[in-house]
Amino acid sequence: MSFYSPVRTNAQEVAASDRLHLFKYVEDPEQHTVATYEAHGGYVAWKKALTTMQPEEVALEVKTAGLRGRGGAGFPTGMKWGFIPKGSPKPKYLVCNADESEPGTCKDRVIMERDPHAMIEGMAIGAFAIGCHLMFVYIRGEFGEPIRSVRRAVKEAYERGHLGKNIYGSGYDLDMIVHTGGGAYICGEETALLNSLEGKRGQSRIRPPFPAIEGLYASPTIVNNVETLATVPHIINRGAEWYKSLGKEKSPGSKIFSLSGHVKQPGNYELELGHSLKDFIYNPKYGGGILGDKALKGVIPGGSSTPFLTPDMIEVGLDYESLTEVGSMLGSGAVIVFNEDTCIVWALLKLIHFYRHESCGKCTPCREGTGWLEQLIRAIEQGRGRPGDVEKIESVCGNILGRTICPLGDAAVMPIQSSIRLWRDEWQYHIDHGKCMVKTHFEFK
Ligand SMILES: Cc1cc2nc3c(=O)[nH]c(=O)nc-3n(C[C@H](O)[C@H](O)[C@H](O)COP(=O)(O)O)c2cc1C
Ligand code: SF4
Repeated sequence: MSFYSPVRTNAQEVAASDRLHLFKYVEDPEQHTVATYEAHGGYVAWKKALTTMQPEEVALEVKTAGLRGRGGAGFPTGMKWGFIPKGSPKPKYLVCNADESEPGTCKDRVIMERDPHAMIEGMAIGAFAIGCHLMFVYIRGEFGEPIRSVRRAVKEAYERGHLGKNIYGSGYDLDMIVHTGGGAYICGEETALLNSLEGKRGQSRIRPPFPAIEGLYASPTIVNNVETLATVPHIINRGAEWYKSLGKEKSPGSKIFSLSGHVKQPGNYELELGHSLKDFIYNPKYGGGILGDKALKGVIPGGSSTPFLTPDMIEVGLDYESLTEVGSMLGSGAVIVFNEDTCIVWALLKLIHFYRHESCGKCTPCREGTGWLEQLIRAIEQGRGRPGDVEKIESVCGNILGRTICPLGDAAVMPIQSSIRLWRDEWQYHIDHGKCMVKTHFEFK
């Protein structure tokens, strides 16, 4: 039995490379089994960490490597692990965030389906580093194949002694629980996730306290993304210095980028951080150019929450600093491409509909504001826009940005603000003429 969804990857390129590593075996139909994972060097890093290293050494290696969280915020992983209070008598928890619901992001799904032991091994090493004996993976409820694949892998990991009691004779016990969510985007936000895991309503918590101090069941908790954790065994195996030699100085390593929208070859591709966005879209090894050989209109480089870039900005490198410099963000690494036929108002209506629907409703600016934005944008898209509506949208966005409990509010408004900045004439034309200035209106399938 295999757990494949047919997604294009650059596994061949990765296998031939000494630098790329995450996707090396991702096209092997047996990689999801523990036997094949072990045959490919799996669980060696876990054994090394557990039997030859101290927990602090493990955390220091990851910190020195400069690994940054792949869930969106890019927070340094080793530093986060260091926030767990040393003398606390409470249990410590590690939670793997596998909620992956951001439009355009579909990388963790591939790891869970095709290489689930990479995630489990990374979780085990992370758990050891923070002194945790019970870890959780919170998987998006709609993820049928990934859930089945991970459940089976966990069972196999117990059978082979990688999890359970007295692992490798070390005296260390580690258990793992697979929890499936109910299908809410907000449950990917780490504090809403913890509420949901506790059986409560999936709403974000006010911080402080941060999860590392008071997380799951009010105990110290680390929440890390699937890809972040799947990277950890490679750092332990090959060392921090090797990892630091990949990518860019402040954005070391490689990352999986999900490419979607109007490109010829959508898929998941592992690239070193700093890889040119333009090359990613046009190189026949990756995107292969724009669908229908049309002109490019714009790109969202880091998942639906990040500001747009225009064609003159795509020489930029895909790394945390370079994208910030051009006014956008790396986010979760989901590159969404729009061709010249895209009505920008229509595209933003789709996005704001999503954010309005997914708002947890806890704070007023996000709960009410996303609804107002959807109403305003829908009216403009349907030709019912009124003079001053663009300014009204800008005002509502300004009253959401930075005024909410969690970043979902910011995520909802940043693409809108950037689209008005870049294509204001198009928004205005929609209002003045009751229709779009773009000739062909291309619907995504
Ligand atoms: C609305 C919202 C949704 C999020 N969804 C996810 C998600 O699906 N997966 C994820 O790893 N992080 C998600 N995050 C980020 C998490 O809150 C958290 O920063 C992350 O899991 C930390 O892991 P990392 O340090 O390994 O990146 C989301 C954040 C927000 C605000
Ligand atoms: S910003 Fe939105 S999703 Fe986040 S806590 Fe407030 S209402 Fe909930």
